[in-house]
Amino acid sequence: MAKKPIRVAVTGAAGNIGYALLFRIASGAMLGPDQPVILQLLEIPVEGPQKALKGVAMELDDCAFPLLQDMILTGDPDVAFKDASWCLLVGSKPRGPGMERADLLKDNGKIFIAQGQSIDRVAADDARIAVVGNPCNTNVMIAANQAKRLPKDRFTAMVRLDENRGRAQLAKKAGVSVNDVTDLFIYGNHSPTMFADFTHAKIGGKPAAEVIGDEAWLKNEYLPTVGKRGAAIIEARGQSSAASAAGALIDHVRDLTTPGKVHSVAINSEGRYGFAEGVWAGMPVRTTESGYDVIESYAMDDFAKSKIAITNDELVGERETVKDLLA
Ligand code: NAD
Ligand code: LMR
Repeated sequence: MAKKPIRVAVTGAAGNIGYALLFRIASGAMLGPDQPVILQLLEIPVEGPQKALKGVAMELDDCAFPLLQDMILTGDPDVAFKDASWCLLVGSKPRGPGMERADLLKDNGKIFIAQGQSIDRVAADDARIAVVGNPCNTNVMIAANQAKRLPKDRFTAMVRLDENRGRAQLAKKAGVSVNDVTDLFIYGNHSPTMFADFTHAKIGGKPAAEVIGDEAWLKNEYLPTVGKRGAAIIEARGQSSAASAAGALIDHVRDLTTPGKVHSVAINSEGRYGFAEGVWAGMPVRTTESGYDVIESYAMDDFAKSKIAITNDELVGERETVKDLLA
């Protein structure tokens, strides 16, 4: 018997990431090749974006995806999030050259108050939320703060792009396939302060540091390359990453719906790994049948602890900047 369709809400659906994301969701790449979906697409309620959204929907129609059961196009969050089991919060301003993601806080932060309230009011009881719009760790905290009905552990932000970047850079340096790079997890903020923990990463089952054999490269080149990759892409492309961000969001949701997967997700820290209580920080989780368990067992050396302290300070600073937006 065919599965019941899952409602997936996507905000900013006519934007760059939306254009790289929706076709993959509709193809089954995110929730599986036998899982029908209904796309509930939100754009700002003005003519230009609404018209562009119609165009995207026309192209989705033209793909004749067997799994795409229906589409709802709207400018109203309560319509977009109604009964949605996944709420993918992409819609918000991207940064331009020379900006940091935190510079977007004042503009983007307020979007997540209204959307957090709407999700809590109308989304499905099993709703899960993934925030991509930057600065995503703090935006998800703003949205989660509005939740009275949904548990806070359902609110996640995406650091999977950083994990994917980190694995790709290690694979390149070692001259191996990305499949050989495992146990690389991202701690902290989706920003240049993030800590891509090479100290526990493995290449071909061996410690990455031993295989690379160049601690100075790992500390002084690898970490900044991964941390500043978003800016490097903006510099090269003139626009922020879109296809890789959409790919990472597909990975984020697929792995959060595949029991046994171990991957990096930004979650309510609850004080784990030395992060402040109540900030959303990247760390490893293992997906379970009903949600995820946080992997808390990695012992951090002094270098790792110092990196985590820096990214934690930044998260605490961002929280201070938006304290007026936290209920
Ligand atoms: P974009 O400008 O191309 O598209 C954003 C879309 O969101 C626009 O169509 C806009 O009309 C819409 N939008 C804005 N406010 C909205 C609202 N309140 N409700 C609904 N829609 C709204 O930008 P993009 O390249 O798609 O990037 C979107 C966001 O994702 C940016 O904040 C960017 O910095 C972030 N991003 C995050 C990651 C990550 O790894 N977390 C990676 C890449 C980009
Ligand atoms: C990225 O990491 O590519 C995105 O967060 C976009 C950006 O502003 O860097």
